Formats: sequence, C-alpha cells, structure tokens
Amino acid sequence: MSRESSYLRHPFWQALAVLVGSYLLFKFGIGYLLPAIGVHSAPVPSSVLLQYMLTVVVALLLYVSTSEDRWTRFKEPLRQVLVDPDKRVLRVALLVALPLLVGFLTYGRVRADVGAPPSLRSIHPAPPNQITFRGEPISLTGLENPLREHGSFEEHLAAGSTVYVQNCMPCHGDRLDGEGPATHALNPVPANFTDNGTISQLTESYVFWRIAKGGPGLPVEGAPWNSAMPAWEDLLTADEIWAVTLFIYERSGSTPRTWEESNEGEGH
Ligand code: HEC
Repeated sequence: MSRESSYLRHPFWQALAVLVGSYLLFKFGIGYLLPAIGVHSAPVPSSVLLQYMLTVVVALLLYVSTSEDRWTRFKEPLRQVLVDPDKRVLRVALLVALPLLVGFLTYGRVRADVGAPPSLRSIHPAPPNQITFRGEPISLTGLENPLREHGSFEEHLAAGSTVYVQNCMPCHGDRLDGEGPATHALNPVPANFTDNGTISQLTESYVFWRIAKGGPGLPVEGAPWNSAMPAWEDLLTADEIWAVTLFIYERSGSTPRTWEESNEGEGH
C-alpha cells in the first residue's frame, strides 16, 4: 500500500479531509460557486457556518466511533503527537502555534477600530443652561458677547486674531474653513466656520461654551465620535474666548444667531 493511499484509508485523515472540504464548500461553494453556474445564492453567514460545521463534526465523531477498531486508529495520530518522543518538535510547535492563533483571532475581534461608528452623532446638541467657568457659574441662556458692548471693536478683533493664530489655526485652518494641517487626521473634522451650517446657526454663548469645554464637554448625543476639539477653559481667559468668538464670526463673514430667533434658549 502506498503512503498516499494509507493516508486516504486512515480515519483521522479522512475526517480531517471531510472537515476542511465541508468548510470550503460552505464558505465558498454555496456563496460563490453556485452563482458561477447560474444558480442564485448568497454567502453563508458566519453563525450558520458555525452550525453547519458543528453538524459535520458530530457526524464525523459518530462515524469514527462506530467501531472499536476505527476509533483506536482515529486516535492514533493524536496520541502520537501528544506522547511520542520523536514528535517532540511537532508537539512544541503546535503548543506554541495554537495559542498564538487563538490570540491573533481574539485580537482581530477586540482591537479598536478607527472607522466611524455606525451611530450618528448630533453635531449641535443642546447646550447646558448653566456652566461653571474657572469655578464661577455662568448662565448661558440669554448671554451675549460682552465685548460687543464695551471697548474698541478693532482691538477685540486683533486680540481674537492673535488667540486664533496661536491656538486654533492648526485645526480650523488659516482661512477658517476647517482645513488646517491637522484636519485630515481627525474624525469628526474641525468645524468649517465659513460654512453656514456651523457658527452662523449658533448664538455666541453656545460658541463660548464649545470653546471653553471642547469635545470633552459635549453631552452624550455629541458622542460617540470622539471630538478632538480641546477644552480651552484653563488656557484662555473668558475675554480671550469672547475675543476669538468675535474674530471667527467677523473673519468668516458669519453673523451669530440672536436670542430672539433661537427657541427655548437652545441656541442651535
Ligand atoms: C486639535 C484640533 C482643534 C483645535 C486646536 C481647535 N479645534 Fe475647534 N474643533 C475641532 C473639532 C474636531 C471640532 C468638531 C467637533 C466638535 O464639534 O467638537 C471643533 C469644533 C469647534 C467649534 C464648534 C462649531 C460648531 O459648529 O459646533 C467651535 C466654535 C470651535 N471648534 C472653536 C475653536 C476655537 C476658537 C479654537 C481655538 C481657541 C479651536 N476650536 C481649536 C478641533 C479643534
């Protein structure tokens, strides 16, 4: 008897061949080969594939255990690999490879995915009515930009421009169009202030809140996409935030939403 035909007659290798053959048939045969010969079909979902494979395994175990002789022969290669002194290298290799394979498959399932999550994020969630800014409570409802009432508009604008260039430009861009050098690394992308879907929809108090509290300050509706917008509360004073707010409206040619227009103080 040649070596090949002795393999073919051995119940262990027969079972292995049936197992691999049925996997290939279920995985590719049903979904891809049938359509190739003109029969309508679809890929088998992995949960169904698992059920089919379990059925095959049970059938194979029934088959190999139907006679004492076949069962003993079936177990031979397994036993040899586990105990024979001359199979030591193979045994060690399997003991290393199997956990690695399982670890690799598990890693593939649990590793963090950089793709956008399926749920939608609310871009302009309702702001809180009141926030604390550097420990002081500030009521956002009805709040206007104080710099529009006091001092020189030109000076406020210049101050806002400095704040913008020093802090905001890498993300929001030098043309305020959200096309800064860092933009393409971020998801969601930095807001484009020249787009009338962003700050021109908002009251200045809303913008103040967003600049002060950033992405971390967004309520749950603003998640699950992790906004890279930093919280500026500890780095900029309230006046600096109002100045940069003035600046982004002025330079992008937008007008803030006023409190009369916005309903229920939601400002969005
Ligand atoms: C690290 C990049 C980054 C920097 C720096 C940055 N932002 Fe943002 N900003 C974002 C991202 C991303 C968004 C969009 C996601 C969001 O709304 O949180 C955003 C959103 C905003 C919004 C909300 C706009 C809207 O329509 O809701 C405002 C206002 C804003 N940024 C102002 C600023 C100001 C002012 C500065 C500088 C003091 C600044 N940002 C600095 C990344 C940045």
